[in-house]
Amino acid sequence: MAPTVKPKSLFLLHLAISFQIFLITSKSTDAAPVPAPWPPQFHAILFMNNSGTLQKVDLWYDWPNGRNINIIQNQLGKLTYDLEWDNGTSYIYTLDANKECRVLHFPVGILRPSWLDGAEYLGQKYVDKFLCNVWTKVDFIWYYEDVVTKRPVHWVFYTGYTADVITFKVGAVLEDPKWQAPVYCFGNEGEERPLLNSVVTDSSSGKLIREVFSAF
Ligand SMILES: *[C@@H]1O[C@H](CO)[C@@H](O)[C@H](O)[C@H]1NC(C)=O
Ligand SMILES: *[C@@H]1O[C@H](CO)[C@@H](O)[C@H](O)[C@H]1NC(C)=O
Repeated sequence: MAPTVKPKSLFLLHLAISFQIFLITSKSTDAAPVPAPWPPQFHAILFMNNSGTLQKVDLWYDWPNGRNINIIQNQLGKLTYDLEWDNGTSYIYTLDANKECRVLHFPVGILRPSWLDGAEYLGQKYVDKFLCNVWTKVDFIWYYEDVVTKRPVHWVFYTGYTADVITFKVGAVLEDPKWQAPVYCFGNEGEERPLLNSVVTDSSSGKLIREVFSAF
């Protein structure tokens, strides 16, 4: 016992629905896409290229705990740790026999999950075989995000320093003991230590980005 519906009213209903769908889709394509905020906690493996100097970086971002660490493996070279706290203190150290450590104080904390807010949309481009939305922020960084998964794929600093994202594990957290800077970072701040200059000047994307964007 199907209710009797006149074909004409069905047609009008169909027309109305189609028009509504048209309005919805045209509205969503009007606005430029915005970058996904960074998840509050994640682990990413990055391949970095700084004018031919290659690094593998383990980035553990932990916003709820106000901390961020870059574990930087230089190609066939030094393994360095760049531990950043939201209170502005950074510890840059090795865990080898050299016992190097440098403590830095920044006037800003770690990156906010929303640090990409307000970036200028530049359109879509293939990078690393992924179709990406591309944004720039204050001509300091170009940021490529997978159109489908919204994961970051690639970024480039104005210096040409590039990062390619190899893994991106949302919700992964590094165990607490690994966030403890070694004892030789403490109590001897006046003492001269071998300077981890390469790390301090051009290491982690986190630090580069943070200097510019933490105010946002
Ligand atoms: C690293 O970047 C340089 C340009 O700065 C480029 O010539 C080189 O091929 C890159 N190396 C890799 C492994 O991507
Ligand atoms: C910031 O926090 C870290 C970790 O708790 C601590 O070691 C450091 O001394 C703090 N820095 C300041 C300036 O309070």
